[in-house]
Amino acid sequence: MKGTVILGIESSCDDTSAAVIRDRQLLSNVIAGQDVHRKYGGVVPELASRAHQQNIVPVVDSALKEAGVLRSDIDALAFTRGPGLLGSLLVGTSFAKGFTAALGIPMIEVNHLQAHMMVHFIQSEVSAATTPRFPFLSLLVSGGHTQLVVVRDYHTMEIIGRTIDDAAGEAFDKCAKLLGLPYPGGPHVDSLAKEGDASRFKFNKPRIEGYDYSFSGLKTSFLYFLRDRQKEDPGFITNNKADLAASLQSTIIDILLQKLRLAMKQTGINQVALAGGVSANSGLRLAMEQEAEQHGWELFIPPFSFTTDNAAMIAITGYYRYLEGYFASDDIAPLARMYF
Ligand code: KG4
Ligand code: ZN
Repeated sequence: MKGTVILGIESSCDDTSAAVIRDRQLLSNVIAGQDVHRKYGGVVPELASRAHQQNIVPVVDSALKEAGVLRSDIDALAFTRGPGLLGSLLVGTSFAKGFTAALGIPMIEVNHLQAHMMVHFIQSEVSAATTPRFPFLSLLVSGGHTQLVVVRDYHTMEIIGRTIDDAAGEAFDKCAKLLGLPYPGGPHVDSLAKEGDASRFKFNKPRIEGYDYSFSGLKTSFLYFLRDRQKEDPGFITNNKADLAASLQSTIIDILLQKLRLAMKQTGINQVALAGGVSANSGLRLAMEQEAEQHGWELFIPPFSFTTDNAAMIAITGYYRYLEGYFASDDIAPLARMYF
């Protein structure tokens, strides 16, 4: 039995990625990052599309080679339709059209955010032995989104809470920039925080109703705090970097957990899954483990390699869509904003 072979393509932001999955088993997941944005302190859309254009063919070739799969073995190609940067998405979408037309195979559109939440269904050496059962609650924390989602089945997901301004990853990145850390700052805050005192500084936490999030107040509070302290001591940031990082990280985690606790309680759902780039954060992973233990939740934390943008998540989502026959038409166009 050959199984169903899906080639996944991800190009929504600044990582070009291709992955091959046979049924749920991951055979390869190749990611080419784009260093070109580093010196600008953020992703430059025009440069991102150009880099995708250069990377996509070699990245797909390596993914197929690593998987030991021939083009003729592929049953369908799954690609990210949105949300994301339009120019970046266009590269993936156009590639998908050319590739599937040449091979005479179907093309499957995937929502990038749904895909982040599907990583728990990938089978690989680094995956957990068990998968979540439906329904489960997903805390999706990335550079562009922060959402609490009830995942009802492989295709039906309901957002019950979202950020009303910045995403958690943006809060990490923008505050990291104020500390003089390179872009993206999240991972740098994470490693600095390990040596810092998280209880040293206090920053504003939002007070909003329901399951929604807000992070712009924290960013402003952090900015003013640094400005005031630097007036007294110009070396304040340099001398207190680790404590600042640790205090900032713990505030972001507190904000995330506060709403999660409420949602778990009120929905009565007992399984929670983390997803998105910020779920790589070691402080968040630890806090989630402690919280799960305390409340008796069943917790699913993704392997590090599936937290930030990758095509394995597109391939697994594509696989489940393939089983239902959800194929895209030839005239499909990418969507910078895409809902589910
Ligand atoms: O999911 P992702 O790769 O891209 C989006 O779809 O947005 O998430 C990227 C975000 C960035 O904001 C980055 O700083 C953050 O994830 N991130 C982290 C860590 N690793 C990545 N934030 C905190 N701690 C980390 N270890
Ligand atoms: Zn993402």
